[in-house]
Amino acid sequence: MKNVEGKVIIITGASSGIGEETAKVLAANGAKVVLSARREDRLQMLAAEIGENAAYLKSDVVNPDEMIALVNLAKEKFGKVDAVFANAGIMPAGNMSELKTADWNRMIDINIKGVLNIMAAVLPEFTVQKYGHIIATSSRAGLMSVPGNAVYCGTKHFVRAMLDSFRSESIREGTNIRTTTIYPGAIKTELLNTVAESAAKDMVSQFYENVGLTPDTIANAVLYAVSQPDNVAIPDLVVCPSMEG
Ligand SMILES: NC(=O)c1ccc[n+]([C@@H]2O[C@H](COP(=O)([O-])OP(=O)(O)OC[C@H]3O[C@@H](n4cnc5c(N)ncnc54)[C@H](OP(=O)(O)O)[C@@H]3O)[C@@H](O)[C@H]2O)c1
Repeated sequence: MKNVEGKVIIITGASSGIGEETAKVLAANGAKVVLSARREDRLQMLAAEIGENAAYLKSDVVNPDEMIALVNLAKEKFGKVDAVFANAGIMPAGNMSELKTADWNRMIDINIKGVLNIMAAVLPEFTVQKYGHIIATSSRAGLMSVPGNAVYCGTKHFVRAMLDSFRSESIREGTNIRTTTIYPGAIKTELLNTVAESAAKDMVSQFYENVGLTPDTIANAVLYAVSQPDNVAIPDLVVCPSMEG
């Protein structure tokens, strides 16, 4: 596809769900994809399926050095980086009163610091080349309050506020780095696997089962953003089931 062919795109959280499907869709449209996640067997299978236009690194978004290694792999293998899809995330839900502080900290580390770590690794490249595209997965939870998921909701608000502020900074600095924040609604992936069993989880699972979309809907939104001409910005994209209020 025009404006996608030959682009080198790093994807975090590529071992399942939205990241995995986005890697397939971008590669099918001519992009070269560099895959990151912790489950190496899943990355290996995906890279083998995509073929010579894929590379992967078992890597944890929480580790800044591993994110630098990921950017270096993209440059070594494909010569440059055009875009990053900062997508890795977890959602172990729970009321604040449950005091699941270990879960709070894991969400802050992965959903917030993970996005910052890949940005810190790639921004020096983008600044020098005066070109680049950061796409990140927020959530509809990043646009509203979500009782029962307050910390997750906060991490996704962070992604929105940080990326939109950065977009304005890049315009002022003349570095021409575009940003796209994606806000998915209910998408059928492995995301709910980390939520502890409860009546609330049963209700959410039932909703996902009944109306949830498949991950290709988000992959196509990323493709749309990536495929735009260089002078077109798509700062925000909300994609959710038609039955999601
Ligand atoms: N599904 C939805 O309804 C929905 C709605 C709104 C937003 N989102 C967001 O969409 C993004 C993708 O989630 P998904 O729905 O596709 O769920 P998923 O299938 O569970 O995928 C999550 C991905 O994140 C990776 N990941 C988690 N912790 C990581 C870490 N420390 N380092 C590197 N990778 C890590 C996982 O890989 P490993 O475990 O192999 O590391 C996996 O590839 C998340 O940011 C999520 O918050 C999802």
